[in-house]
Amino acid sequence: MNPVKVGLLGLGTVGGGTVNVLTRNAQEIARRAGRGIIVTHALARGLNKPRICDTRGMILTTRPEEVVNDVEIAIVVELIGGDSLAFELVMQAIANGKHVVTANKALIAKHGNEIFAAAQKQGVMVAFEAAVAGGIPIIKAIREGLAGNKIEWLAGIINGTGNFILTEMRDKGRDFADVLKEAQQLGYAEADPTFDVEGIDAAHKLTILAAIAFGIPLQFDKVYTEGISGITGTDVSYAEQLGYRIKHLGIARHTDTGVELRVHPTLIPERRLIANVDGVMNAVLVHADAVGPTLYYGAGAGADPTASAVVADLVDVVRALTSDPENRVPHLAFQPDALANFPILPMEQVETGYYLRMHAADRPGVLAEVTRILGDQGISIEAMLQKEPPTEAMGATIIMLTQRVVEKNMNRAIEQIQQLDAILSEVIRIRMEYLD
Ligand code: NDP
Ligand code: HSE
Repeated sequence: MNPVKVGLLGLGTVGGGTVNVLTRNAQEIARRAGRGIIVTHALARGLNKPRICDTRGMILTTRPEEVVNDVEIAIVVELIGGDSLAFELVMQAIANGKHVVTANKALIAKHGNEIFAAAQKQGVMVAFEAAVAGGIPIIKAIREGLAGNKIEWLAGIINGTGNFILTEMRDKGRDFADVLKEAQQLGYAEADPTFDVEGIDAAHKLTILAAIAFGIPLQFDKVYTEGISGITGTDVSYAEQLGYRIKHLGIARHTDTGVELRVHPTLIPERRLIANVDGVMNAVLVHADAVGPTLYYGAGAGADPTASAVVADLVDVVRALTSDPENRVPHLAFQPDALANFPILPMEQVETGYYLRMHAADRPGVLAEVTRILGDQGISIEAMLQKEPPTEAMGATIIMLTQRVVEKNMNRAIEQIQQLDAILSEVIRIRMEYLD
């Protein structure tokens, strides 16, 4: 049988990696797919830029229409990133009856509902395994492997750059900006790295995970998002003294009242496996009713790991080319007409534990005032550390871990604590999860 022709939009880190994996493992891939897969065209901005892959044998172009309108190309692989040109080109490819593979989480999180509707109408597939957690086959695991379960919650380290930065800061005391620069050189970071450090990239991925886990539409604008740029070595060190690690987590939980969708730094007990996921590695912990907890671990970014997911999608699409569109795995795991409208809970209604750090005047009664305010809001203290002040002006450092409480009550308590004369600094708050 003739090989399937593929057009790449983008030939950077992931595009180059995809060509390399397709070339290196051509025979294995053909044995799995039942046909060879060859890249005939690739779009880039610069035709003379050095590439990480061999481009001989393919047409390199700066004109996207040469790829998306080519009648010979059966599958368009979108790897340029962003959600404007990428969206236009993906919609054009679908309109032309082409199947699409993409690693672009921003595109799927923001425009996925529209893209999938168009694809369904045209009877084509849109595959996006590489969009979440790099090389980990998490989409397939949730969409197919856990299809018999009711998924209760999931929590993941789903940004490689952010985890790399936190790990290097903790283990080597390195400077935030310096580690970010290295992540960019290694090809891990987004074109706009604030997406990595401010949690936007993780929010894109969480949007996708929640949709396929709970059977809800993609709702990126409802994700509560907080990044890692405010995390200091001081909090990392106090967390460790209390037996916790700070990780940047994406958390989606299906509760009786609605769905929690949140991305923020989180203290987790250091004995949890996921607390020990370091560097560019990602991990997603999924809690489902029948199987219980399952944990998925692997490289979250980089050329070859991400290409592994892109090529797996290509193999899936090639295998299903002749299948009846009605009998394919639905894009969002649940049948499109069976998606549910569960409300997404505002952050004020979310319940978590908290780590609090504050500086307080070193005099009798201060602690009693703080604990009274917490008590009035129904907040129980689980652990506490007090460090003597290096100078009287700085005050003593008080660190508290609290039991779970709704965020609204914690907001009220922090507001009141902050107003006490004896509190000399901003009250730092980091959320805490046991993940048990
Ligand atoms: P790169 O910046 O390395 O590559 C982007 C490619 O797209 C480049 O080849 C670039 O051309 C081309 N391109 C960009 N804009 C245009 C344009 N307007 N016209 C023509 N070509 C264009 O990005 P990555 O490979 O890192 O990322 C690609 C996608 O994969 C993104 O959506 C990203 O979020 C996602 N992703 C990335 C991962 C990673 O580890 N890097 C992991 C998982 C997903 P040129 O080379 O000439 O500049
Ligand atoms: N910038 C992303 C990350 C790439 O660091 O996780 C993988 O999606």
